[in-house]
Amino acid sequence: MPLPKSDYMSESWKDGLFANKVVFCTGGAGTICSAQVRALVHLGANACIIGRNVEKTERVAQDIATARQGAKVIGIGAVDVRKFESLKEAVDRCVKEFGGIDFVIAGAAGNFLASIEQLSVNAFKSVMDIDILGSYNTLKATIPHLVESGNKHKMDSESLKPSPLGTGGRIIFVSATIHYRGMPFQTHVSVAKAGIDALSNNVAIEYGPLGVTSNIISPGPIAQTEGLERLLPSDAKADYTRSQPLGRFGHVRDISDATVYLFSDTGSYVSGQTLVVDGANWRMSGSG
Ligand code: HXC
Repeated sequence: MPLPKSDYMSESWKDGLFANKVVFCTGGAGTICSAQVRALVHLGANACIIGRNVEKTERVAQDIATARQGAKVIGIGAVDVRKFESLKEAVDRCVKEFGGIDFVIAGAAGNFLASIEQLSVNAFKSVMDIDILGSYNTLKATIPHLVESGNKHKMDSESLKPSPLGTGGRIIFVSATIHYRGMPFQTHVSVAKAGIDALSNNVAIEYGPLGVTSNIISPGPIAQTEGLERLLPSDAKADYTRSQPLGRFGHVRDISDATVYLFSDTGSYVSGQTLVVDGANWRMSGSG
């Protein structure tokens, strides 16, 4: 049974918006990224999702494909974003299957709570490798295809009319807000996310002239995600929710809708930006 649409996106977007588009997503079997991809697939895209766990990645891919009749979603497991060659093989398979890549979501991440004292050098390095090197590898392996797509879908610089082919050549890095202030037991993740932010900003500058946009989505506390489960004990959730500016956690739908915005024509002139989707969580003193 397909998931109800409201479980992963709002009603605001029109069906067929992403017809003939191809999405490549690392960390695609996770709660947030799978909702992002499901929304894009619902709106017409086909997708490759990448993960480390073969069974989980293939199962989630099959499930995402139920979002639209005729959708093709390939789950490519046993891919470690830390290993460029393994990622490159996945990209090649995606391009062979679908003919190109229009949109990339770099979502693979590693996280656990540990103080600096508890954090071994290898533990710190593991998160740097998954988050920063993994994001770089994702960019490096997909960028030729994003450039190709970006050129094909470029808006005419004189008339500024949207391309009749829709949009392409777009990358979103999934980051966080914890490094804006710092957060206990999250030094490794904070440092990694700051690196990802810098990576995206540079991609926007360097690849803008080649028709590629690069942006960051920084989710705040999103209900029922691994990140929130790891960071917030269950018995603290009710008090935490009440303390939030909007009085609720985010929904994965909030992240999907931000993704659709950035990949669609509505986001054509948005590049080198961070879209914080956190209900003003980080601006509140002491909220982390
Ligand atoms: C201290 C830990 C630890 C812990 C692992 N390590 N867990 N140290 N506390 N809880 C140490 C290990 O002892 C080891 O160091 C080093 O980290 C590498 O661990 P491995 O298990 O060998 O590595 P690996 O199998 O590659 O696992 C990587 C991982 C793991 C990051 C440690 O948690 C993972 O695979 N996570 C992927 C899924 C995930 O984390 N998703 C959450 C994303 S949520 P030594 O010195 O012993 O060799 C998210 C939200 C962020 O990202 C935003 C927050 C607001």
